[in-house]
Amino acid sequence: MNFVKVKNYQQMSRQAANIISAQVIVKPNCVLGLATGSTPVGAYKQLIEWCKKGDVDFSSVVSVNLDEYVGLDGSNDQSYRYFMNENLFKGINILPENTFVPSGIAQNIEEECKNYDQHIKDLGGIDLQLLGIGVDGHIGFNEPADCFEKNTHLVKLHESTIEANSRFFENKEDVPKEAVTMGMMSIMQAKKILLIANGKNKEEILNKALFGPVTPQIPASILQLHNDLTVIYSEE
Ligand code: GLP
Repeated sequence: MNFVKVKNYQQMSRQAANIISAQVIVKPNCVLGLATGSTPVGAYKQLIEWCKKGDVDFSSVVSVNLDEYVGLDGSNDQSYRYFMNENLFKGINILPENTFVPSGIAQNIEEECKNYDQHIKDLGGIDLQLLGIGVDGHIGFNEPADCFEKNTHLVKLHESTIEANSRFFENKEDVPKEAVTMGMMSIMQAKKILLIANGKNKEEILNKALFGPVTPQIPASILQLHNDLTVIYSEE
């Protein structure tokens, strides 16, 4: 594991954007696994800036996102599809048809999950997976559980996740209770993983996840078993 501690959010974002753009430069038709949340917003802003300057070209890149809330369609401003469009896709030259986010409104969620995994497989897997970490140690929406879930699946969000994510909603009651998330297989089969975290409130869980026992009670701990993991943490 490559653990990098940086001074502030800006440095974390810049370094993350550097790693992502290096991936795109080395393999222009790479598959990027992308994440939502407040943590990656700065890195996405930086990528938009570099793309506008012509320093990085996303025209052949394919992206697959980690997760989506159940019940929200892409036009809902709380959906992760909307988030990605607004915070990244609109600002870079990726083709909209090359961006994939699981559907939270599929009639048959089980089938949607199967298709999502198959799609990632058909793409040849993920070259670089970007991850944030939840306060309970979740990655994507893989919540603490008795076992690691391999495949894309429907998940009931834990109270702490609903609480943490309620800051983006008007009322806590508006936070969806369920989500569709990529499972551990597609994440762990990514050739490279980049985990970013910032803020004192993430320090304890990050320490447990990276240096404690590997346990499904701390989903991010499985990342210790990956052989190309970079973690960038900023206290600020
Ligand atoms: C959500 C997302 C995760 C993300 C987490 C942390 O629950 N599903 O992918 O890592 O939030 O979010 P933040 O970066 O806002 O702390």
